[in-house]
Amino acid sequence: MADDTTDTKSSNQMWGGRFASGPDAIMEEINASIGFDKKLFAQDIRGSIAHATMLAHQGIISAEDKDKIVHGLNTILSEIESGNFEFSRQLEDIHMNVEARLATLIGPAAGRLHTARSRNDQVALDFRLWVKEELQKTEQMLTGLIAAFLDRAEEHAESVMPGFTHLQTAQPVTFGHHCMAYVEMFGRDRSRVRHAIEHLDESPIGAAALAGTGYPIDRHMTAKALGFREPTRNSIDTVSDRDFAIEFLSIAAIAGMHLSRLAEEIVIWSTPQFGFVRLSDAFSTGSSIMPQKKNPDAAELVRAKTGRINGSLVALLTIMKGLPLAYSKDMQEDKEQVFDAAESLELAIAAMTGMVRDMTVNTARMKAAAGSGYSTATDLADWLVREAGLPFRDAHHVTGRAVALAESKGCDLAELPLSDLQAIHPDITDKVYDVLTVEASVASRKSFGGTAPSEVRRQIAFWRARN
Ligand code: ARG
Repeated sequence: MADDTTDTKSSNQMWGGRFASGPDAIMEEINASIGFDKKLFAQDIRGSIAHATMLAHQGIISAEDKDKIVHGLNTILSEIESGNFEFSRQLEDIHMNVEARLATLIGPAAGRLHTARSRNDQVALDFRLWVKEELQKTEQMLTGLIAAFLDRAEEHAESVMPGFTHLQTAQPVTFGHHCMAYVEMFGRDRSRVRHAIEHLDESPIGAAALAGTGYPIDRHMTAKALGFREPTRNSIDTVSDRDFAIEFLSIAAIAGMHLSRLAEEIVIWSTPQFGFVRLSDAFSTGSSIMPQKKNPDAAELVRAKTGRINGSLVALLTIMKGLPLAYSKDMQEDKEQVFDAAESLELAIAAMTGMVRDMTVNTARMKAAAGSGYSTATDLADWLVREAGLPFRDAHHVTGRAVALAESKGCDLAELPLSDLQAIHPDITDKVYDVLTVEASVASRKSFGGTAPSEVRRQIAFWRARN
């Protein structure tokens, strides 16, 4: 565009009836939010169209003025979308930038748009709409990540790997089972997202500055037009509430924590020492000095983004802490935290989905590692309980001696000759070798939610039906 008076018009023309001079330059800088809240332009315009339509329907403004306003707002929307809108810092925020441009476009009718509303309910509306859309996007992205894991889990329902506790080899599990652990985590994140959408699905517009309004507005009408379930119930709470933003950040922080655990596992698994997975070239980088290296940069950055998201959560909690009701300008600091966390979360989920889909799984390395570290010791103890009738504590002791012997001989449990095992306990027979392999160990763990391939397949079927 921009002929424009919007550049020269200061915000003080919008609210400055009782102010003698324009804002000091520092005041303008600390006060302005347009640098970041211009991201809300589409929500702002949608909200204003719904508000103007309701005002006309209620006979508060004329149909002609409403038509001019709606037409002008649509013009502004295409100006902004096509990059032909000049945002002005003097006009403080997105609300006043849009309204000032509307005045230039349609003249005095523009002044009727702000009837029966305030920037306090307006910003609450714009931001809620934005967060709602972001939550919907997050829901979809998590569904994509879960789908990637389900495919890998299916492919590797039988691939044995070491299961760890304390990052020490514990018992053999399948890679499919390990993948399904992440499906559970991201599935919980997704249900948190769904709950958050339900929580915030109330329309703030019409709360006005804080006390509601004397105009005969219809808040149910605007709520419906904007796709909300219903209007909020208390006007004071409406303009002072940022729970929806904090909920988004908490969900992002928890999902980020999950993503960072996965990132850490990928970093460990892709070391030459582990060699469980090989990242695709698309998600790794080389070293400028050490030609042999393949670095898991994307995973490391996902791990780091979590720190950033946590920072945003703590920042907004701290901004809101101790604020008296209702609106305070402190609350303007809410948006950058949410925008930054949303960008980090989206990137982290997208990068992880790509890594999970693309990485090559080295089943031979995993299987070899699964068999080392006496990972089937528990199976030996369980066999002694089942087949020789020993109490578990005694079986544990016997097994401990077998492990010590194998360790001193530098071999695996399955490599101990039967005579050695019988010297430790006479009831051991050669049948024991059936449970000392990693495959037998894994196949035996058929308890609900266990690592047996049949159980893993049941888990996959459960989630396929829900994804
Ligand atoms: N830019 C403001 C914000 O982001 C809009 C609301 C301003 N309201 C006010 N009474 N100054 O919170």
